[in-house]
Amino acid sequence: METTQNLPKIEKKDFPLLENNFMSKNKIIYLDHAATTQKPIQVLAKIDEYYRNFNANVHRGAHQLSAKATEEFENARSLIAQYVNADSNKEIIFTRNATEAINLAARSWGEFELKENDEILLSIMEHHSNIVPWQMVAAKNKCKLKFVGIDLNGRLDFDDLKSKLTKKTKLVSLLHVSNTLGCCNPIKEITKLAKKKGALVLLDACQSLAHQKLDVRDLGIDFLAGSGHKLCGPTGIGFLWSKKEILEKIPPFFGGGEMIQDVYEETSTWAELPHKFEAGTPAIAEAIGLAEAIKYINNIGLDNIQKYEKEITKYLFEQLNQIEDLEIIGPSPKIDPNRASLATFYVKGIHSNDIAEILDSRGICIRSGHHCCQPLHRHLGINSTARVSMNFTTNQEEINIFIENLKETISFLNINS
Ligand code: ALA
Repeated sequence: METTQNLPKIEKKDFPLLENNFMSKNKIIYLDHAATTQKPIQVLAKIDEYYRNFNANVHRGAHQLSAKATEEFENARSLIAQYVNADSNKEIIFTRNATEAINLAARSWGEFELKENDEILLSIMEHHSNIVPWQMVAAKNKCKLKFVGIDLNGRLDFDDLKSKLTKKTKLVSLLHVSNTLGCCNPIKEITKLAKKKGALVLLDACQSLAHQKLDVRDLGIDFLAGSGHKLCGPTGIGFLWSKKEILEKIPPFFGGGEMIQDVYEETSTWAELPHKFEAGTPAIAEAIGLAEAIKYINNIGLDNIQKYEKEITKYLFEQLNQIEDLEIIGPSPKIDPNRASLATFYVKGIHSNDIAEILDSRGICIRSGHHCCQPLHRHLGINSTARVSMNFTTNQEEINIFIENLKETISFLNINS
């Protein structure tokens, strides 16, 4: 079994919150990285440096402070473009989060391009953020939503996808890695099928961007939604990537300063990409902080991260599989070797919130509930699940402590039920 020591350049002490925090002077075991990651000191220091040393608005001032802020902000855009292998920086639109990125695609592209009876193909495992925006567009433009199901192993049902993908499908919008099932969807194959039918593909990459290399051009997709805070960056920053030819054609969604070329009393003309989609003062400190987070991840290396997380996921599954009455939802690492470094489970007769609360009282943070995936839970006939999600900071010792405490919690709840 590898340990974090096998990862080059990662130190637990880079993450101050993991050392101590408001709850306790003792170390906590943080196993909720799929909800949000902790932030390394390098990111905290960069945000502090921005506010102390070069705080100014971007693209506006003639002064040196503004020039420095603009340079760092635009460097952040370039770094993100490189991270996903975009063709140009102009294809990266900063948003508040991935949800806003999907809403932007839905409002600017969806409302503009979709016609009555067009179909949008989603999957039943989607996060609410990749369902609700499309429901809103479908209601407005009178289109239909279709949902691909899952197979018995908790992966996307490929045959179902093939049968539901038709000439009427104008968009396939899917998550890359499920925040609940953990499966990794075969996007390149799906994109090939979608293209044959003339459909575009949007990828919700929230749960994959910090865990594996991703290349928008190689995948052949048309849109990608990403989130900063799941990438060891701050909250309040995400991005939408799309192809220049698509972004140039569609109208902006938000209007205001910065996104215009000329404003007249009755009409306006739009700025060049990417500014056309970025109305108002952007999240400057957050974008610069995100760039620092990407540098931190690049320094460890995504291949190293993926290799390490595969090992620790295998270990977690082996340990969980030994617990009686515990059912994991989603494919095992054997079935899906690229699955996420998380496990979602339920224990018969016990509510997942009770498990999470008792573990919390022992300094172990996991998530319980529906994980913003109500349709998936309804489809599986389960109200609520518990989820433990790891990243490159998680080590075997923490998993051992979690498992021991989980076993004690289950025994306690079984006795008292
Ligand atoms: N989507 C995030 C999660 O899965 C918030 O927890």
